Amino acid sequence: MIRKATLNDIPFIQETIKPYAERGEMLSRTLNDLYEHIRDFSVYEKGNGVLGVAALALSWENIAEIRSLAILENRLSLGIGSALVKYCLEEARSLYVKKVFVLTYTAEFFKKIGFHPIDKEDLPQKIWKDCVNCSKFPACDEQALIIEL
Ligand SMILES: CC(C)(COP(=O)(O)OP(=O)(O)OC[C@H]1O[C@@H](n2cnc3c(N)ncnc32)[C@H](O)[C@@H]1OP(=O)(O)O)[C@@H](O)C(=O)NCCC(=O)NCCS
Repeated sequence: MIRKATLNDIPFIQETIKPYAERGEMLSRTLNDLYEHIRDFSVYEKGNGVLGVAALALSWENIAEIRSLAILENRLSLGIGSALVKYCLEEARSLYVKKVFVLTYTAEFFKKIGFHPIDKEDLPQKIWKDCVNCSKFPACDEQALIIEL
């Protein structure tokens, strides 16, 4: 089942993101950052365990970002990633968000859900505030994709 995250999920969220962040495949999230933004997160839970996490971050008028989407490495290819993205899109609709974007190295995964590539320059300026924390800044090689709801 997918549900909104609680403070109790924070250790699992951090552990799920960690291997990808260590390989530079996504931004790491500090504990402080996770506490401040826990209401953005949803988790996929089975039994007593969290198997995947995703965040919907509101960016600007009508637009939000899916961030920190990560599935436990031993639970890939089971449909969990796409289920979490669809849950975030439903959440976005309920908030009257009109467009959801993502910055990613896994463009093909998002294209299967209906996202399409856009020029990063077309995204609101303020989304780049977190990029200064990225080891690759300012040479970002992630792809930007967007979906209209
Ligand atoms: C990308 C990621 C979320 C996919 O999660 P997943 O649970 O394995 O994906 P699903 O099982 O829902 O896959 C859905 C479809 O996408 C495809 N897919 C999954 N990962 C893919 C990838 N990296 N590249 C291309 N296609 C991919 C699957 O084959 C599947 O296709 P199908 O419907 O034709 O069978 C997961 O690999 C992950 O956590 N990656 C690391 C972090 C990351 O890159 N996050 C995204 C940016 S924030």
